Amino acid sequence: MKRLPGLLALLFITTTLFAQFSREDFERLNKLSNEDHQLMMKMLGITEIRPGPSGTPGAPNYCNTDESKATSYTTLPDPLVFNDGTPVTTPAQWEKRKLEIFELFDREVYGRMPANVPDVTWSVVSERDTLDGEFPVNIKELVGHVDNSEYPVINVDIQLTLTVPKEAKKPVPVIMEFGFIFPKNFKFQNMPVPQGPTWGQQLLAKGWGYAVIVPTSYQADNGAGTREGIIGLVNKGQPRKADDWGSLRAWAWGAGRALDYFTANPDVDETRVGIEGLSRYGKAAIVTLAYEPRFAIGLIGSSGAGGAKIYRRVFGEQVENLAASGEYHWFAPNFIKYAGPLTPLDLPVDAHELVALCAPRPVFISGGSTQVEGPWIDAKGMFLAGVFAGPVYELLGKKSLGITDFPPQCTTWFNGDIAYRQHEGGHTVGPNWPVFIEFAERYFNK
Ligand code: GCU
Repeated sequence: MKRLPGLLALLFITTTLFAQFSREDFERLNKLSNEDHQLMMKMLGITEIRPGPSGTPGAPNYCNTDESKATSYTTLPDPLVFNDGTPVTTPAQWEKRKLEIFELFDREVYGRMPANVPDVTWSVVSERDTLDGEFPVNIKELVGHVDNSEYPVINVDIQLTLTVPKEAKKPVPVIMEFGFIFPKNFKFQNMPVPQGPTWGQQLLAKGWGYAVIVPTSYQADNGAGTREGIIGLVNKGQPRKADDWGSLRAWAWGAGRALDYFTANPDVDETRVGIEGLSRYGKAAIVTLAYEPRFAIGLIGSSGAGGAKIYRRVFGEQVENLAASGEYHWFAPNFIKYAGPLTPLDLPVDAHELVALCAPRPVFISGGSTQVEGPWIDAKGMFLAGVFAGPVYELLGKKSLGITDFPPQCTTWFNGDIAYRQHEGGHTVGPNWPVFIEFAERYFNK
C-alpha cells in the first residue's frame, strides 16, 4: 500500500467522493461549509480558533511525531468514577455511569440524535443471484426511504447492499461496512490492486454475509450538507444548534436503520451483525458500536482523532484539525470550542470512554504501519484508548487487552475482548481482515 499521510488521504478521499462533481461544485461546497462553520462559531461566541498542525511531512507546521512530546496530559477522565466523584464498582452502577458518559459525548463531542427522527421504509431496488469469486450469493440493492412528509423539500434515501451466501440453511452473521461511492469504472490511480480474496469473499468463505451502507447517501460529508440529509430534514433546513448531531452520529443512525432491516430479513442473524469502517468511517464505526447496542462486534479501521485515538495526545491529527471547517461537521458544533477558547485538556471525556461504551461487546482496533500509513492516525493513541477502556470490560466480567506497553507492529493482541493490531500496510483495513475474522469467529461460531 502506498503511504497515505493525513492530508493526502483527505485529498484522495474527497477527490474520490466528489469525482462526480465539477470543480465549481466543489468550490461552492467549500464556500458554504466555511460560511456554516463561521455561523457555528458565531453562535458559540467564538471569534478565533487555533489552527491544527499539517499532515504533510516537511511542512513547517508538521504535526508532532515525537513520542516524548506526546503526553502533555497527566490524567485522563476516569470512566469508572461518577461525575460527583463516587467510584463505580458494580455492573449495575456502570449502567448509570454510562448514561453520564453518553450525555457528555452527546453534548460536547458527537451531538444529540433528535428524539423525532422520522421512520425509514426499506425496499428492494434490485436482487440477483450471482457469483462473488467462487461463492454463489444473493445480492440485494436496497433503499431506505426516510419519511419526509413533515418537510418534503428534503428527500433522504439510504443506500445499502446486502450480500448473503446463496446456500445458507439458516440466518447468517453479517459484517456491514461504511463504504464509499466509487463512480462506475473508477480506477485507483497509482494504487496497487489488492491481491487475494476481497473482505467480502473472506466472510463468504466462513458462510457469513456482508453489507455496504453508503453514509453520504443520507448525510453529506461536508458542513454545507448539515442543512440537508437526515440532519437537515429533522431541522427543516435550518442550521444546527450547539449540541445537534454531526455526521458521525447521523451515519451511525443510518447503520441502526440497516440493522432494523436485517432484523426483519430472514437471511440475516440480527444478533450477529458487526460494523466496520476505515478512517472517517472508522470513526463512524466506533460511534455506531458505542451508541447502538444491537451491533455485536466492531472492526475499527485507522479511526484516529475523533475515533479511537486519545484526543489529549499531541501526536498526529489534533482536535484543532477536527474543529476546522473541513471536519467540524462530523461533530456537534459545541466541539469547536475545544480548539479555542478551550483546549483538548478541557474535554470532559476522552476516546477510551467511547471504547468503554462498547463494553461488553468485542471491539477490534486496527491501524496500519506508522512508516507506511504515516503518523496522522496515531496508532499508539488508538492502542491506549483500548488499554484505558480495559477496566470497564473487566468490571463487566470481560477481558481487557492484556497489555499496557505498545506492541511492535504486526503483533496481534486478541486474547481479550478488546483487540488491537497494527498491520504492515498503509491506510487500509486490508491485512487485518483475516485476523479480525478469526477474532469474530470466537463470538459468532459459539
Ligand atoms: C483526513 C482526516 C482524518 C480522516 C481521514 C479520512 O486525513 O484528517 O481525520 O480520518 O481524512 O477519512 O481519510
